[in-house]
Amino acid sequence: MSVPLLDLRAQHATIKDEVVPAMLRLVDDQLFILGQPVEQLEQSVAALSRTKHAIGCANGTDAILLALRALDIGRGDQVITTPFTFFATAGTVHNVGATPVFVDIEPKTFNILPDAVAAAVGPKTKAVIPVDLFGQMAPIEQVEKAAPGVPIIEDAAQSIGAERRIGGETVVAGERATVGTLSFFPSKNLGAYGDGGMMLTQDDELAARLKRLRVHGGAKTYYHDEVGFNSRLDALQAVVLQAKLPHLTGWSAKRRTNAAYYDAAFADLGDVQTPYVEPCNVSIFNQYTLRVARRDALQSFLKERGIGNSIYYPLPLHLQPCFAYLGYKPGSCPEAERAAGEVLSLPIYPELTQSQLDEVIAAVRAFYGR
Ligand SMILES: Cc1ncc(COP(=O)(O)O)c(C=O)c1O
Repeated sequence: MSVPLLDLRAQHATIKDEVVPAMLRLVDDQLFILGQPVEQLEQSVAALSRTKHAIGCANGTDAILLALRALDIGRGDQVITTPFTFFATAGTVHNVGATPVFVDIEPKTFNILPDAVAAAVGPKTKAVIPVDLFGQMAPIEQVEKAAPGVPIIEDAAQSIGAERRIGGETVVAGERATVGTLSFFPSKNLGAYGDGGMMLTQDDELAARLKRLRVHGGAKTYYHDEVGFNSRLDALQAVVLQAKLPHLTGWSAKRRTNAAYYDAAFADLGDVQTPYVEPCNVSIFNQYTLRVARRDALQSFLKERGIGNSIYYPLPLHLQPCFAYLGYKPGSCPEAERAAGEVLSLPIYPELTQSQLDEVIAAVRAFYGR
């Protein structure tokens, strides 16, 4: 039996009767651009993320791009971020004309290292973008201390609803940042039937600006205060996401259950390092990522047995050809580089059956002759 890395059809089958009628109602109404469906989702996600504002946009990449623009970041400015993330985190910094400054990661969580942020802060630093990688929040309170007064764009694309205990209080992903950003790419815990994104903030002025920026920079139709973008969240996607939202908590909990099951099954494999979740964090396990020495051999072995897997991420961003102009050399971010050679993500989606979970476990154990 083969096990896919992700099976979106399995999820759709469980919610078809809720999602499809809602989509058809919108088609009957023919109200496809912004309006009530988008506003309703914005309110729901703001409540979930405990932010005053949530502003839908076209995708998680644009959410970061618009946040950078709303903070007036551009030419001559530096933005500190992690090289161990999806490309969009830094591509957007380049696309507003600013310079990404890559700093290393903490090797157990793969999240940005606050000490490295502190060492990189300078007069040109205009923002830090920590990424809540694989479903686990980055240490945002330590990033705040490392870069006092610097705006934080929290890239929570992979971590909607993740939690962190900070000083006796629970903080939700995006809640504490200057702007938090979400992606509804289909593989996320809350995935659209296409693209979608959202920006979260507690700041009224920033919220108003983000709202303008997504509609060509004009609060009033045909009048433009500044040049913005066409980056609206599609109403049809908002309807899908609203229908899926009540399931999110359960789906993320099931991912945690699956993760715990894998953890126990791999506990005696000395060569396998299972995901480390800081005790103060509640991960939503968008990915279940192992660290192993013979990664490429394990990947081929699993592929031959039909076990879905993927490498997030094989080449850290500071070494990508498009960023060669920044001058980073191998060894600049050693932990990110080491992680890129050792990580392997396994199927973790909530609809995995018991036999599928056991099949994945059996294949990994077989590789180690156990
Ligand atoms: C960490 C991270 N940042 C940004 C994005 C960009 O989101 P999108 O694909 O919706 O543009 C993604 C996901 O794809 C992501 O995983």
